Amino acid sequence: METREQFATKLGFILAAVGSAVGLGNIWRFSYVAGESGGATFLLIYVICIFLIGLPVLLAEFSIGRRGQSDVVGSFNNIAPGKPWVIAGILGVLTSFLILSFYGVIAGWVLYYFFSFVTGQAGGIEQEGYGEFFEAFIGGGLSPVIWQFIFMALVLGIVFFGVKKGIELSNKVFMPLLALILIFLAGYSLTLDGAGEGLAFLFSPDWTAFGDFNVWSAAIGQAFFTLSLGMGAMITYSSYLSKQAKLPSAAGGVVALDTLFAIVAGIVIFPAVFTFASVEPGDGPGLIFIALPEVFNLMGGGGVIFGIFFFFLVAIAALSSAISLLEVSVSYVMRQLNWNRRKATLLAGVAVTLFGVPSALSQGGPIPFDFLDLVDTVTDQYTLPLGGFIIALFVGWGWNKVDVLKETGLTDTTIGLIWIWFLRIIAPVGILLILIQNVISAITG
Ligand code: TRP
Repeated sequence: METREQFATKLGFILAAVGSAVGLGNIWRFSYVAGESGGATFLLIYVICIFLIGLPVLLAEFSIGRRGQSDVVGSFNNIAPGKPWVIAGILGVLTSFLILSFYGVIAGWVLYYFFSFVTGQAGGIEQEGYGEFFEAFIGGGLSPVIWQFIFMALVLGIVFFGVKKGIELSNKVFMPLLALILIFLAGYSLTLDGAGEGLAFLFSPDWTAFGDFNVWSAAIGQAFFTLSLGMGAMITYSSYLSKQAKLPSAAGGVVALDTLFAIVAGIVIFPAVFTFASVEPGDGPGLIFIALPEVFNLMGGGGVIFGIFFFFLVAIAALSSAISLLEVSVSYVMRQLNWNRRKATLLAGVAVTLFGVPSALSQGGPIPFDFLDLVDTVTDQYTLPLGGFIIALFVGWGWNKVDVLKETGLTDTTIGLIWIWFLRIIAPVGILLILIQNVISAITG
């Protein structure tokens, strides 16, 4: 048997896992979902979901991958041969495919903005004019598809040549730069006229909305999405991890960094949203594409430079996340069909790109039915939480407790015990309640 590719160092793995987690979810999706779901109440519930459900399930995925030493499906089969838990793996391959299909579309928008700032097209637009700029682009015939293809070509190229080379370096350099630019922009946003209102929106919860199931449902979907959970991206990555690395600290680091990125992004965006009359928090998936360029515009000449760097770095963050999504299908196809990496990448990559085309064309373009929203809803409200549910039950009940704790290095520790009980009761019950609620509200409309 060939030896499995491995990350060179533990830091390399953490960076890859952070690279998978930090992406459009933290910036694009976090801000538009928080904006639609009431801001601070959403943020609070989201943080609760991250710690009660996200962190335990993330550690569960890490242990499955490292112990299973295979792709999502293979890892379950190796640990629990012949048992039905592997359903989570199959569901994961399907989900990664669905998510990547629209992820490539949004990342294409980011690339288009980057390019428009480079060429100067996005500079010097009159104030409050970016709503129109955005709509002209997404409704403008084939161009969203072209940018989606450009982005997906980059993803394919990197996965084609192997995980390790492709991501360790880029994450080491570009992720810190993205953090820096976000922190700087947050400082700038705090000087805007809408800063007070923006911060209140993000940080002062409306307690009457705390019991609103829709907010919980949005928050749990966002928690899974942003941590790359519930479909085996983290299982696949940790299968490339050496036996020495410590899993709990890696999981804690990923969760902390990912959450910080989202909160800082919120501090950048919401003051801007409340500064410009043309933008509303509930503007949906276009939110950052309408609000942020207004900020760059307001900065004067230097704003163009910020526009270029910002959209470049977000595109890179999206790239490392998209790679992790594609890697799930690729590693599965490689083993299942016994294909080599290149053939598997081409097949899975081209299929997922084509499947994303209707999403690209349904955002004001020729397709009137919002395909992107449908695929996003199916994954975030159903398949990701369901995958997380099965993973929690598997590690909590299905897999021998002594083995589990040994794999994570938590034998005879209080933390280990708490973690197991979170996986046994709290995470599955929480997820189940929301899944049931989602089904009910889908049926009753
Ligand atoms: N977490 C990434 C983001 O926030 C997206 C992502 C990568 C993802 N891999 C995933 C989402 C697996 C769900 C499942 O942009």
